[in-house]
Amino acid sequence: MKKKPIILGIESSCDETAASIIQENDQGIPIILSNIVSSQVNVHKEFGGVVPELAARSHIEKIDLITKKAINESNIKLEDIDAVAATAGPGLIVCLSVGLSFGKAMAYSLNKPFIAVNHLEGHALSPKLDSKLNYPYLLLLISGGHTQFLSVQGLGKYKRLGTTIDDAVGEAFDKTAKLIGIEFPGGPQIEVYAKKGNPNKYKLPKPIINRGGCNLSFAGLKTAVLKISKQVKNKQEKYDLAASFQKTIEEILVKKSKVAFKEFKNINKKNNNNIFVVAGGVAANKRIRETLKKLSDKEKFKAIFPPINLCSDNAAMIAVVGLEKYKEKTFSNLNFSPKPRWPLDEKANFLKGAGVKL
Ligand code: KG4
Ligand code: ZN
Repeated sequence: MKKKPIILGIESSCDETAASIIQENDQGIPIILSNIVSSQVNVHKEFGGVVPELAARSHIEKIDLITKKAINESNIKLEDIDAVAATAGPGLIVCLSVGLSFGKAMAYSLNKPFIAVNHLEGHALSPKLDSKLNYPYLLLLISGGHTQFLSVQGLGKYKRLGTTIDDAVGEAFDKTAKLIGIEFPGGPQIEVYAKKGNPNKYKLPKPIINRGGCNLSFAGLKTAVLKISKQVKNKQEKYDLAASFQKTIEEILVKKSKVAFKEFKNINKKNNNNIFVVAGGVAANKRIRETLKKLSDKEKFKAIFPPINLCSDNAAMIAVVGLEKYKEKTFSNLNFSPKPRWPLDEKANFLKGAGVKL
């Protein structure tokens, strides 16, 4: 029987150095043979955010060891690798360059195809690591740098339905955490605080909630949290603010998802299998998962989430895109440059900053 393809994935777009080996099984499901992620939390903690130069330096120090570990743990031989896939964008250019160059060098030395991967497509396809997922599907991508609704028509075929016009949801979580006094990276801790708080204590704004289709906005919410955080004195009030903030995010996502459901159905009229994928770092939030699952059940969409450990940045999701492209024989040249900005839907308008008309 013909050996199933084995892909090495490499990720270094922000502050995680990651490498993974995956192989497709007989049912066509990609199996993770190894998935190594080295986080740089300790490097950036004292600065309260990611410092690009330090992140790049840390990637340089670790990328070869992390890749070696991924290959060793997978129990494959180096020469068994059929293709090397590396993140080429979007992200911090100094960080992208490290993984991209390393991936190209690996492919060249092994004499195997090289595949440049869009990090966002990695998130988009991440549920394939444990579910069978057919096109088309509606995608809500919620990460630290992006918040978008997309209709995924096929591999590399995206139609953006809505996007944030200012901050990303993950960014709003991180900024709220900082204002409450939670150490970097605070986003995931908001969920922990919120469990102990009263979600109805503070009333927070929901910008553009009734207009702009399924476009979203979070900047006004951050300003409101800033004001309230100045009056917050004790731990319980911090819990209450975290709970109120998280509830507001849930309400915004529910309202906008309903609009996106309609738009998705409109452009996929012949499709009778409505699937709603929620992916990206914020999809690890259990409350948000539950709320969007409930909504999907009500609206007759099947909700699919990646496993929690595959929501945040990893290289297995990069390898999955590599596998799909390998099967289509879509390979990249070794002169592929890093792309700090690389939208999934290249035709969609840039919708950020002052003067945006919705
Ligand atoms: O996808 P990701 O790992 O990196 C990007 O591509 O941006 O997403 C990171 C973001 C951060 O903003 C982080 O605070 C947020 O995901 N995040 C969460 C949770 N876990 C990670 N936000 C809310 N609740 C969580 N449990
Ligand atoms: Zn990401």
